[in-house]
Amino acid sequence: MVELSKVDQIVQSYATEKTPLIQILKAVQQEYGFLSEAVLTQVAKSTGIAMSEIYGVATFYTLFTTKEKGKYIVRMCNNAPCHVKGASAVVEAVKKHLGINVNETTPDKLFTIEFTSCLGLCAVAPCMMINDEAYGNLTPEKAVMVIEEYRRKGSKL
Ligand code: FES
Repeated sequence: MVELSKVDQIVQSYATEKTPLIQILKAVQQEYGFLSEAVLTQVAKSTGIAMSEIYGVATFYTLFTTKEKGKYIVRMCNNAPCHVKGASAVVEAVKKHLGINVNETTPDKLFTIEFTSCLGLCAVAPCMMINDEAYGNLTPEKAVMVIEEYRRKGSKL
């Protein structure tokens, strides 16, 4: 069972703001990692804002997630310049290696794969980001090697 008292504290800290829902959801997501149904329900109770409105905001903005994600978010560039340079093969190799599809999380909660639009690194296409770190000039083999480095790091923590 998730401890939800932090939701109330966060809501209270925005009591003087005029339309604080987005800020509240950002802070709550930072605290809990993602916006679960239980957390959103607590936000509704604590703010008095209708659950339908809260859910609408939580699912509209891409900065919010209602699903638990892995420790490492693998963002695969999905735009044309990366595709021309072989991104599809890289994506397939990463999916196969991790045993999951795009928008899924590995059972050990280490990795989530997502598509992203241009990372601004087309000169070194194809590219991906893992959390805040960018990787370019990828081949399927290089991408899998990078993922394995993260697995080694992640499993030690
Ligand atoms: S299209 Fe992939 S980095 Fe620009």
